[in-house]
Amino acid sequence: MKSSKLSDLVRVREMGNTESVTGGEGDNSSVPPQDGSGSESGMSSNSNAPAQNLTVVLLSGLSPELVCHADGVGGGTEEFYQRINVDSPLTCGFSGPNGGPGRFPRPNFFPGGGGDGGGGPRPEHIAASFKISALGGLDDQIGYLKRSVLLPMLRPEVLRENGIKAPKGIMFYGPPGTGKTFLAKALVNELKDNGQHVNFFYRKGGDVFSMWFGESARKLTEVFNTAKSMAPSIIFFDEIDGLCPNRTGQNHGTEAYNAVTTCFLGQMDALKTERVFVIGATNRLDAVDPAVRRPGRFDKHLSFGFPDQEARARIFRIQTDKWERDDRPTEDWIQNLAVQAIGYSGADIEKLCKDVVYVAIDENGGVITDSMRIREDHWLRAMGNMQRTSASNFGSAQINPSKPNDTVFRLIEPIVTSAIEKITPFILPQRGNAESIRKSLILCSVAGSQSKNFLRNQIVQGILCNRIFNKMTIFEISEETVFNQIAKGKPTTVSVFHNIINQVLDCTQPAVLVIPNLNEVMATAKESRVENQIVGALAKIRGPNIILLATSSEPLEKLEGNIWTELFNGEKRGIPVANPRRAQLVGFFSGMLEKSESFLVAQMGRAAQVADNDCFEDIMVLYSTLERMVNQYRAAGASGKEQEKALQQRVDQTITNYSQTRFR
Ligand SMILES: Nc1ncnc2c1ncn2[C@@H]1O[C@H](COP(=O)(O)OP(=O)(O)OP(=O)(O)O)[C@@H](O)[C@H]1O
Ligand SMILES: [Mg+2]
Repeated sequence: MKSSKLSDLVRVREMGNTESVTGGEGDNSSVPPQDGSGSESGMSSNSNAPAQNLTVVLLSGLSPELVCHADGVGGGTEEFYQRINVDSPLTCGFSGPNGGPGRFPRPNFFPGGGGDGGGGPRPEHIAASFKISALGGLDDQIGYLKRSVLLPMLRPEVLRENGIKAPKGIMFYGPPGTGKTFLAKALVNELKDNGQHVNFFYRKGGDVFSMWFGESARKLTEVFNTAKSMAPSIIFFDEIDGLCPNRTGQNHGTEAYNAVTTCFLGQMDALKTERVFVIGATNRLDAVDPAVRRPGRFDKHLSFGFPDQEARARIFRIQTDKWERDDRPTEDWIQNLAVQAIGYSGADIEKLCKDVVYVAIDENGGVITDSMRIREDHWLRAMGNMQRTSASNFGSAQINPSKPNDTVFRLIEPIVTSAIEKITPFILPQRGNAESIRKSLILCSVAGSQSKNFLRNQIVQGILCNRIFNKMTIFEISEETVFNQIAKGKPTTVSVFHNIINQVLDCTQPAVLVIPNLNEVMATAKESRVENQIVGALAKIRGPNIILLATSSEPLEKLEGNIWTELFNGEKRGIPVANPRRAQLVGFFSGMLEKSESFLVAQMGRAAQVADNDCFEDIMVLYSTLERMVNQYRAAGASGKEQEKALQQRVDQTITNYSQTRFR
């Protein structure tokens, strides 16, 4: 047989903005027809193609970060592509041999989850709706999987002969509802659509213990053995932290867990074939035993974050395209929804697209009628009722920013804009030794008058919602996350800091770590005599891909100790948060008025004068009180001079009260 060197195997052809790389082992004449009849995108099966015929579709658009993260994984996959003379970034899909009954055993489909039904492990049936095209915003992850999983599984000999080692496993991690399970299943369908059957074995971490009590390790071995005998196979361990929990954690040092983790490690080490691939999924990478995570077992950790605005728009489109109704949101409205839905996961958006129908049905008296329309206000109401995925539910320090309401945003916009100007240079790549790069900034209340809550819940959120953070994963060490983790078994505050900082360092995407109220954190650390340990933990945050954004409710001068040298390269990098001044406040207060309420302009000017240089929170209290009065007036439909005068007096009185007491 002729050697299957890549240069012999591969040809490249242009297909619009896709390129298809085609080859037939030992027989270049078996390249599928290039008139597009075989496979337009290279994704559909070519039943006439000889076995081992391979079509690789290369699509541009993979992020450079991902390309560089792939380094060292799979023993030089990137080089592989360079050698076939195609530029990264790229992704690939396959149309290959129909695995067919002769080559691979056909599975007994066994719908449902995770059991072996008493007859040994069986592969899962995967519904056809699990399609890669039904996912929004996971292009990097999809591209990586296509390059690093599908190719080694389909053509192991090609990689072997070219000295490339395929990864054995990939760990998916990220918050709930971000598409981890969906993508694993869609991967199998992607192969199937290309005529390549792969058996998919699904196991859920905790279930392994509850279902197979006393014989978990033996059953686990069976899954690996069956997957090997039915190769090509993918074994998907969902919630793998339930299967192999971090043994350093307080609750998991038990014999049963140890036995399963040891068995799992042994099985992974013994896995010598590229035709069995293992995917683990978890919400928290740090909750998985470190021995399981290390290279050689799970070679790559693939981060799944909350979708950015563009991805959210795509998910809204995907979800509402399924509707058999003709009142799907317009493109403009989808864009608007995507802006509003900041911080939503894919699953949250899916739920919202269902909830909105129920809101409309409710309003329609609980019935669906032909005349029922889903309107924009239904969407807003459904959004108002949404309870989004919360990071604290799953012990991850990852957060999703929530946009301040429009009024607050109008008030803080100048501060947010100046903060973004200061932060932007830190987002751009910086040269130099990664170890010496520290991208840390502190948002500090100039006069010490802003409350810590307002800084964290409004100003920081307003900043994080800016599009410069779209592609970044956001973590937070707040009092809540610290308590939460201690409750979940982390014994000390210092270990929580290390744990969260490790989550940030493990993140394969550019990340932001937010530490609200750094001044109080450091003061408490000092009291508890752990100041140096906390600073030591924070000092691990360095490098070109991590930004530290802290807040301080006191001026910078009050922050003492070695924090500046350790975190900020000796510079006091502050973003001052000054109180708003009268000139800005005139526009702010008048903004609540409609034309017919122009008789209140003088009052609004007075409000601005009285609130000049007050902290944001106080100003918001005054604004809301005045706004309520104006709304009541509006709702009453009042218009006579007397009513106007009465309202002016009430407003004046409220402003006077404010000036005397600041409502406190
Ligand atoms: N990026 C996305 N694009 C489109 N839909 C998505 C996306 N992410 C999630 N979804 C929707 O949310 C549902 C739940 O996603 P999935 O089960 O894959 O989440 P997960 O990350 O595995 O969550 P968990 O950690 O809780 O297991 C999917 O069925 C899909 O409809
Ligand atoms: Mg899942």
